[in-house]
Amino acid sequence: THGINNPLAAAVSAVRTLDRLCQQCPDELREQMMATCRRADRALERIERIVADLRRLAQAGTRRGDLKVVDLGQEIRLALELISHKLEDIDLKLALPEGLTVRVCPDEFNQVIMNLADNAAAAMDGHGHLTIRALLEGGKLRLEIEDDGPGVPPDMTQRIFEPFFSTKEPGRGTGIGLAVARGIIEGYAGTLYLEQEHGPGCKFVIELPAEVVRERPSENTGS
Ligand SMILES: Nc1ncnc2c1ncn2[C@@H]1O[C@H](COP(=O)(O)OP(=O)(O)OP(=O)(O)O)[C@@H](O)[C@H]1O
Ligand SMILES: [Mg+2]
Repeated sequence: THGINNPLAAAVSAVRTLDRLCQQCPDELREQMMATCRRADRALERIERIVADLRRLAQAGTRRGDLKVVDLGQEIRLALELISHKLEDIDLKLALPEGLTVRVCPDEFNQVIMNLADNAAAAMDGHGHLTIRALLEGGKLRLEIEDDGPGVPPDMTQRIFEPFFSTKEPGRGTGIGLAVARGIIEGYAGTLYLEQEHGPGCKFVIELPAEVVRERPSENTGS
């Protein structure tokens, strides 16, 4: 990705230089030039984000970083913490049994939770209920991420997982969040799908195989 990162970095630095040079422009030009620099800077930031997304998409499923045994609840809280500014007015409910651990690459797992919570928050326009629930079913983990936004129209339920499918306005979404999340989960031999139910709202389900999940014996027994 150096092929794209280097020219991108060069463009960013050129805009910064231009911005500095604006200070020497005559008054009547300065404001306009600085505003133009800011616009270019924002556009470049957006390109940087898309490039980062593309890199994630390309890498989804090929493990980055080591597998670690982590506490499921702790890891989910950590991921939500990273997007807490989008969840401020959302009523968040976590139903996560104590002592469940998963063996994953923490960065990847965070990414999945963040992408799904980010989508839910956006669908609800920042206001509504978000529930994350974990269930053990015969050793397998079932993780539900549920919101009470408008849901996905029936004719879109398959397409939402395609890379670059987005209903958000340009600049708001690249359409890559679900594709990345699914790629990561499939990298653990798991599945990620939308469980379409009647009525409004949306429920995404992550299933992880038993090999990834452990139940840690409660620490205050057997003392
Ligand atoms: N919780 C949800 N409720 C309603 N629609 C959803 C929800 N999650 C995803 N979608 C739909 O699926 C589309 C694809 O989601 P995805 O996360 O892949 O991309 P995005 O959110 O549009 O952009 P990006 O994640 O790259 O910023 C969204 O644009 C939206 O239409
Ligand atoms: Mg998204």
